[in-house]
Amino acid sequence: MTAPRPSAVVILAAGEGTRMKSATPKVLHSCAGRTLLGHVVAAADELDPVRLVVVVGHGRERVTEHVAAIAPGATVVVQAEQNGTGHAVRIALDELALRGDDPAADPDAGPVVVLTGDTPLLTGATLTRLVAAHGESGSLVTVLTAVLPDPTGYGRVLRTDEGHVEGIVEQKDATEDQRAIREINSGMYAFAAAALRDALTRLTTDNAQGEEYLTDVVGIVRGDGGQVDAVVVDDSDEILGVNDRVQLATAAAIWRDRLNDRWMRAGVSILDPATTWVDVDVELAPDVTLRPSTHLVGATTVARGASVGPGTTLRDCEVGEDADVVHTWAELAVIGPRATVGPFTFLRPGTRLGTGAKAGAYVEIKNSEVGDGSKVPHLSYVGDATIGTGSNIGAATVFVNYDGVAKHRTVVGDDVRIGSDTMLVAPVEVGDGAYTAAGSVITDDVPPGAMAVGRARQRTIEGWVERRRPDTASARSAAAAKSRQGDPQPDVQEDS
Ligand code: UD1
Ligand code: CA
Repeated sequence: MTAPRPSAVVILAAGEGTRMKSATPKVLHSCAGRTLLGHVVAAADELDPVRLVVVVGHGRERVTEHVAAIAPGATVVVQAEQNGTGHAVRIALDELALRGDDPAADPDAGPVVVLTGDTPLLTGATLTRLVAAHGESGSLVTVLTAVLPDPTGYGRVLRTDEGHVEGIVEQKDATEDQRAIREINSGMYAFAAAALRDALTRLTTDNAQGEEYLTDVVGIVRGDGGQVDAVVVDDSDEILGVNDRVQLATAAAIWRDRLNDRWMRAGVSILDPATTWVDVDVELAPDVTLRPSTHLVGATTVARGASVGPGTTLRDCEVGEDADVVHTWAELAVIGPRATVGPFTFLRPGTRLGTGAKAGAYVEIKNSEVGDGSKVPHLSYVGDATIGTGSNIGAATVFVNYDGVAKHRTVVGDDVRIGSDTMLVAPVEVGDGAYTAAGSVITDDVPPGAMAVGRARQRTIEGWVERRRPDTASARSAAAAKSRQGDPQPDVQEDS
């Protein structure tokens, strides 16, 4: 199906979205990692329109900023008062004309497509079908419609005996008979540019809501002898408008299922699709396995053979081939091929795990490189560090990066053995092949191959418990142990 290139796509996004009960403008709420408006812009983009126009009103500063970020080429038009959908499209076209960029000026201009900013499930394929049908039928207006089990609230589509569209009547203006019609107006259309431009100047506010209805364009065009047709969506989910948080959750769940289905068909195993949430811009290779309760967010990529989850959230992360990430929260981290992470691991921005590296249970890493084959297996904090290859960081080691005022770096070489419970007080460097003794506080650089011991020597005070904690369970157990061993009474004096 070849669709003519639209001269403009106009997206209406001026409404308040009161029912969201939110400080955030409605169209800036997100599902599947994109704003509602972002989904509509992405669908519109597939039509490759000459112009993209977004009509903003409520929350216009934030919406305008967002449009600049996601569609830098778009024109933003402010509709200060929401006087209706027809008014919104009229001022959009007026604004273009004022800028000397009137889409209707060229008699061969492609259609003007009108969309609303709160329909995140709309696809480019459906829009292409709408615009192609519009081009083929010679109609001046083509309405995207849906047949719903419950049409309440929507404008109803009135058809002629030949099946053309005769008019659209709003719920509030409809008769009892008209309200029984189940074919509804989605609020999305393709218009012949010049006919639209002309009809918009003839709209009235003579209706139940006192607004300029875009839907009245249908009646005006037909009054002029023009033809109006409809394209019925295959899947009525696509026209679902989000007005409250319940509908937002519904839309998010439909996106989740769509994306999970797509990835499973592309060779990804998803053990529990109901609890697996993959954002629309995530990239997954074949033979990836996603275990239950996995959230892949933002620009995350997962390479072939890697497994993620259960209970894992990765935001803007890169996971290498055959890596295994379990019960982890990670953000802006690179997890190398065959690396293992988790369970219960926190990888913060700037973490880079090399090939075959390990970040084990109860480990937090930030702004640090863990070289190929190096391991941080248990209970450690690694901050602002560079760790070479083949090194082992003993359990409960802390990279002490913060002196209370500034952060400092620690460098650990290749094949180093950091003893358990070492405090590496940055800035400090441990050379290749060096060791640190368990429980050390390392404040001075350790040369290659050295053993650094930074702790007090052990002092043992015999008999202390029986003298200083008499009649306790500990004292009784100690006494029993000594009598079993046939120990004499303690004779070491406590120095106090
Ligand atoms: C509109 C249609 C109705 C259709 C329904 C589909 C009209 C008169 N009616 O009704 O036939 O079934 O959409 O959802 O068009 N907007 C503006 N500026 C305005 C008014 C609206 O930008 O002055 C935007 C809103 O933010 C929203 C969209 O246009 O994104 C639709 O407006 P809304 O008031 O929700 O239209 P409905 O009354 O639902
Ligand atoms: Ca309305």
